[in-house]
Amino acid sequence: MPSWTPVALAPDLLPATAMPARTELGELAVWRGASGRVSAFHDRCPHRGMRLSHGFVRGEMLSCIYHGWRYDGAGQCRKIPAHPDLEPPAAIRAGAVACTELGGVIWVAPAGTETLPSDPGAVEPLRSLPVAARIKAVRSALSFEEMGTVSLPGLLSPLTIALQDAGEQTMLHVLIPASDPAGRIAASRALEILRRDIEATAKETAA
Ligand code: FES
Repeated sequence: MPSWTPVALAPDLLPATAMPARTELGELAVWRGASGRVSAFHDRCPHRGMRLSHGFVRGEMLSCIYHGWRYDGAGQCRKIPAHPDLEPPAAIRAGAVACTELGGVIWVAPAGTETLPSDPGAVEPLRSLPVAARIKAVRSALSFEEMGTVSLPGLLSPLTIALQDAGEQTMLHVLIPASDPAGRIAASRALEILRRDIEATAKETAA
């Protein structure tokens, strides 16, 4: 398993919102505080197991939608609304994993990972798209493992793609060279064709 895996393009997670993500680390709640800082937890509240990705963000804390327990970016529970005068014990923690934003992509890694993700360079987020094929088939079609570039017909510049293993499907998080903003529509069309080709090949291989 790679140390860092992409879960979203940065503009797709607005400040003060949370989203679910499926990765090799399991189901995650990825969220962004009002200041813009990103965090990710295993998608299970330590209280009664509610999905934290259903919660809402208040300032720099994620609040569980069920009983409102609030967690800071490191996962520490900071507030239990039913006991407003209680300082929550240190043992009450959401399962935080490493989470960072680099190159227009939000990445997660096992807790304690100290390296940084690979920097995709001078690129901008284009779009994320799901492909109905397992990551092995997508890797084989694109000829790289985690992140790489592809040159598609009709495009002046290659696109950078980071792959997220989401089980039955694979998410492609696509970046376009910052020098080629005019190519966004053509790139989006070319990606639809790429998606169809990969899905067709995967289906044939599985048959
Ligand atoms: S299940 Fe999350 S606060 Fe109760």
